[in-house]
Amino acid sequence: MRSRLTWERWLKGKTGNRSDRRGIRLFERLEEGRSCPAAGRLEDPTEPDRINSNEASEVPMNGKYQVRHELRPKALEGFSEEQTAQHWALYEGYVKNANLLIEKIAGLSSKRDFGPEFAELKRRLGFEVNGIVLHEHYFSVLKAGQAPLGDFAELTKMFKKVFGGFSAWKEEFQAVGKMRGVGWVILYYDPHSRILANYWITLHEEGHPAGFVPILVMDVWEHAYMIDHGASGRAEYIDAFFRNVDWPRIELNLKVAMKLSEKESAHSSR
Ligand SMILES: [Fe+2]
Repeated sequence: MRSRLTWERWLKGKTGNRSDRRGIRLFERLEEGRSCPAAGRLEDPTEPDRINSNEASEVPMNGKYQVRHELRPKALEGFSEEQTAQHWALYEGYVKNANLLIEKIAGLSSKRDFGPEFAELKRRLGFEVNGIVLHEHYFSVLKAGQAPLGDFAELTKMFKKVFGGFSAWKEEFQAVGKMRGVGWVILYYDPHSRILANYWITLHEEGHPAGFVPILVMDVWEHAYMIDHGASGRAEYIDAFFRNVDWPRIELNLKVAMKLSEKESAHSSR
C-alpha cells in the first residue's frame, strides 16, 4: 500500500496544489477502501493490481454512513453562508435517515421479517443513500478561489472531442440545469464508449446510466438556491455554481474514471 507521503506526492503531481486537503482526503479514503464522491469506490490508478485487492476495506461503523465534514464548502463566491449552511444541513439529514433505515432493515432482516415494512424501507433506502452520494459529489467540487483548466487538460481535450469545446459543453450542461422541474445535472464518463455525456436525473435514485461515472454533479433542487436567489433564480445560481467549480478536481475525477475503465476492460478481456 502507498504511504500517505506517496499519495501526497502523487496528488501534487495531479493538482499542482499540495495544500488541497480535500484531495488528500480523497486518497486517504482510497486507502480506507471506502466509496468517495469522485468515482464511487476509487482505486489508485497508478497501481495496476490494486483494483482487485480487498485490503484495507475499512467499512463505516456497522455499514453506516458518516457526515464528511471535510467536504463542506466555505466562502463560495455568490453563495451566502446561510444558503450553504442550510443545504449542508439537508445533506446531514440524508446521512441520519439512511443510517436509521439501515438499522431498521437490519432489525427486520435478523428476524427474517421480509414483509411490507421491510420492502418499503428497502425502497426508501436508495433515495436516502443516493441523496448522500450526490450531495457529496456536489459539495466536493465547490471551492472558493477557482483554478481554471489548462489547454492540455484531459477534460479540455474531451470537451473538444465530444462537444466541440468547453463553451459548447457548458452551454448544454447549463441548459439541462435550466430545464423545468427539480433534480440533478450530471456530467458522466461513459466507460463503454469512453466519452462524456450530460444527464438529467430527477429523483436521487432513478435514471442513472448503469456503470457511468459521475464527473461533475450540480444540484438544481430549489433548496440549493432559494435563500440566495428565490424560486425563479435558478439561472443566477447556475452562474454562481460555475464560478466555484474546482476544475483540477474535475480533471482528477475524469482521469480516475478513465483509468478504472481501462482496468475493467483489461480484466474482462482476460
Ligand atoms: Fe441538495
